[in-house]
Amino acid sequence: MTARRRQMKLGAFLWATGHHIAAWRHPQAHVMAGVDIEHYIQLARTAEAAKFDLIFCEDAAGVREANAGIASQTSRSIGFEPISLLAALAVQTNRIGLVATASTSYNEPYGLARAFSSLDQLSGGRAGWNLVTSASHIEAANFGSTGLRPHADRYERAREFAAVVEDLWRGTGDVAGRDHQGKSFSVRDPLDLPRSPQGAPVMVQAGASDEGRNLAARTADVVFTAAQTFEEAKAFYDDLKGRLAAYGREPGDIKIMPGVAPIVAATEAEARAKHEELQQLIPDDVGVALLSSYLSISDLWRYPIDGPLPELPASEGMQSRQALVIEQSRRDNLSIRDLARHFAGARGHWRVVGTPVQVADELQARFEGGAADGFNVMPSYFPGELDSFAALVVPELQRRGLFRKDYQGHTLREHLGLKRPM
Ligand SMILES: Cc1cc2nc3c(=O)[nH]c(=O)nc-3n(C[C@H](O)[C@H](O)[C@H](O)COP(=O)(O)O)c2cc1C
Repeated sequence: MTARRRQMKLGAFLWATGHHIAAWRHPQAHVMAGVDIEHYIQLARTAEAAKFDLIFCEDAAGVREANAGIASQTSRSIGFEPISLLAALAVQTNRIGLVATASTSYNEPYGLARAFSSLDQLSGGRAGWNLVTSASHIEAANFGSTGLRPHADRYERAREFAAVVEDLWRGTGDVAGRDHQGKSFSVRDPLDLPRSPQGAPVMVQAGASDEGRNLAARTADVVFTAAQTFEEAKAFYDDLKGRLAAYGREPGDIKIMPGVAPIVAATEAEARAKHEELQQLIPDDVGVALLSSYLSISDLWRYPIDGPLPELPASEGMQSRQALVIEQSRRDNLSIRDLARHFAGARGHWRVVGTPVQVADELQARFEGGAADGFNVMPSYFPGELDSFAALVVPELQRRGLFRKDYQGHTLREHLGLKRPM
C-alpha cells in the first residue's frame, strides 16, 4: 500500500471587488461588492464546492483609502465587519472554515473570545480568529487619542490577550471562574457558552517581525505570510517551524499558508493579457499611496516618481513589509513608479500568471520544496478569478493528488489536520 500523499491546505481570501488594486475598475467589477451579502454568499459557495479549507476575511476598523486621499478610487472603503459577515455565511455553508480578523489593540479578550465562540458554535466548529495587533495610524485614530502604540507594546498586549482568550475557550462551560488578573486585562467569569465542537476555534496569525513570529510560534495554528520568492518563503517557513520547539510544539502543529495572487486562463497568452489589463488600470497616485502605507511614510508623493526610493526611517508599523519593499527596490533597481505598480498590483504578495498546469507547478514546487503547507489564495477580482481558480487549478491539483476531492471531517481543525486542544 502506498502512503497517502501530503495534501496542501487552501484558503480563499475574500476582499470586496478583488485583491488587485485596480479590481474595482475591472469591467466585471461590482463596486458595492463589499456590502453585498449575495456576492459573499456566492464566493463562499464557490470556495466550498471547490473544497477549500477556509474562507478568510481581513479587517481594519477605519477608512484606509480616505486617509490616503484616494477614497473614491478603491474598492475597500466600505465593507462588512467580518465576524458579522461570517456569521451570515455560516448558515449558507456546511463545511468550509470561517476565519475572521480581529484586533488585540482595540478589543477586550472576554468580548472577542465570546464572539468567536458564538461563531464557532453556530457554524458547528468552523471558526478561526486571525489575530492582528493593527499597525495603522488610521485605526488608532478611531479608538481614543493616544495614537498608534509602539510595536513592542502592541505585541506585549497581544500575548496576554491571546493567553486569556485561549484560557476562556478551553475552560468554558461548567468550569468555575477563570479569574485572570494581568497587566492589561482582568477577567472573572468563564464564557457563557459550551466548549467548542473543535475544542477551540483555530488561531491564525500573520505577524512577521521577530515578536510576531514568536507570538505565532506560541499560539498560532495557521500562519499567513507575504513572500515574493521561493527563498523568502522557505526562509520564513524554516524560521517559524524552528521556533516551535521552544514552546513545546512540533512542526506539524502550525500550517504555514503564504498568500498567492494567481491569474489563470486556458492559455498563457490569455492569462498574461488578463494580468496586463489589470496593471494598466492602476492609477499612479493609488499605487504610490499604497506603497506609502506599506512603508509607513506619508510623503512619498513628494519624491520624483521615476527616481529611487529615498532613505527611510525605521517604522512602528509593519516592519516586515517595509523591509520586503526596500530589499526589492535595491535588488532590482526599481523606481517609485515601478515599485508602486509591482506592489500595488498584488499588494506585496506572490503573483503567478499562467495556465492551470503552470500555476499548479508553481504551487507544487513551493509546497514540496518545504516553503508552504498550503496557500491563501487571493483572486485578483471577484467572482471571475475565484471561479477560474476553482474550475481550472483545483482539478489540476486534485489530479496530482495534492488536494482533497472531498471533505473528510466537519470542523476547520479536521480539515487542517490540527490536534484538538486539551
Ligand atoms: C495574508 C495577510 C493578511 C493580513 N490581514 C491583516 C488584517 O486583516 N488586518 C491587519 O491589521 N493586519 C493584517 N495583516 C498584517 C499582519 O497582521 C502584520 O501586522 C504584518 O504582517 C506585519 O507584521 P509585524 O507587525 O509582526 O511586523 C495581514 C498580513 C498578511 C500576510
